[in-house]
Amino acid sequence: MEQRITSLTTPSDRSNVPAFMVMDVMAAAERIEAAGGHVIHMEVGQPAASAPDSAILAAQMALASARIDYTSALGILSLRERIARHYRDTYGCAVDAGRIVVTTGSSAAFILAFLAMFEPGDRVAVTLPGYPPYRHILTALGCEPVLIETSSETRHALTGEALLASHRKAPLKGVLVASPANPTGTMMSRQALSSVINAAHDAGIRFISDEIYHGLDYAFPAVTAADLSPDALVINSFSKYFCMTGWRIGWMVVPEALVRPIERLQQNLAISVPTLSQIAAEAAFDGRAQMEAIKHSYLENRRILIEGFPKAGLTRFLPADGAFYLYADVSDFTSDSFEFAKRMLEETHVAATPGLDFDPIHGRRFMRFSYAKSAEDMREAVARIARWLA
Ligand SMILES: Cc1ncc(COP(=O)(O)O)c(C=O)c1O
Repeated sequence: MEQRITSLTTPSDRSNVPAFMVMDVMAAAERIEAAGGHVIHMEVGQPAASAPDSAILAAQMALASARIDYTSALGILSLRERIARHYRDTYGCAVDAGRIVVTTGSSAAFILAFLAMFEPGDRVAVTLPGYPPYRHILTALGCEPVLIETSSETRHALTGEALLASHRKAPLKGVLVASPANPTGTMMSRQALSSVINAAHDAGIRFISDEIYHGLDYAFPAVTAADLSPDALVINSFSKYFCMTGWRIGWMVVPEALVRPIERLQQNLAISVPTLSQIAAEAAFDGRAQMEAIKHSYLENRRILIEGFPKAGLTRFLPADGAFYLYADVSDFTSDSFEFAKRMLEETHVAATPGLDFDPIHGRRFMRFSYAKSAEDMREAVARIARWLA
């Protein structure tokens, strides 16, 4: 489509954020499928399973019996109380329901958190490799994302030393970490997480913890930053463990002093979060047994890849502690992961995401494989990749 851009329609500089490369891979996969090909989807971080039955039933009943009105900006109180109970049950950690804010997925939580915590021009550290929208949302809001590289010695997690080294070069206002992380799947121990939080707090750096992959932990139980500091801001979502991506529902645990500013922001930016999704989310907690079975299936998928990839020729990947990703070093085969992803899709019909999406510095050497689909798909993907690389 030809674009007509005049002085009246020139896009703002801040809207000039990079696209998500994974979307390009998805579009190419769709073209192959439209022509009758069978693509194995390992590109998107999306569970194959659907929401818990309890959530779907609650939504159906609500549709049949009630008006779907606005809710209060912070979210339905019984949902906020249910989330607070989740912190007690899962982590043994007391969190006041008054500090829980329901959000339109964790994506909207980033916007609210960044607006409430940072001014335009503030420098906020994120790790490489890392989830691209962290950088792009910060940029769109006028903040400066500061990229800190990680290494295998720390399981690709941030350390207090690396954070302070960056802060000494130019002062940071905030830092965001994720454990389990995307794209690496690696996790931080309680000690590793608390040492970064302490280093950040001592230096006056605000701390945000993206805990969207909590529940999908295989190496050891994930630790919530809410248990380590009342000043940390925690972001979570129903998208991954509860398989509710399209319901667009998540939450935050926010420091006391930020509740009211975030409430005012949400009132103005969104009024409230979709009501039907809030009702479903509250009931989702009753579907944990069903979700645990799905988690168990990821464990089997993970085993298939960890055992199968080395036989197929992909011998180097990061520790797959949690989430549903394997981040593999493909530098024996290519120096351009984007080209590699394109060829692999065209020639094997296996779709995966080039590391460049997550890491503009070293991402050319890596590919991210998502293992949230069926075990049969995983076995077939390993077989296709093995034939292709042979
Ligand atoms: C690390 C991480 N954080 C946040 C999100 C956003 O998820 P949602 O907005 O569906 O909660 C994703 C999605 O893939 C993710 O991988």
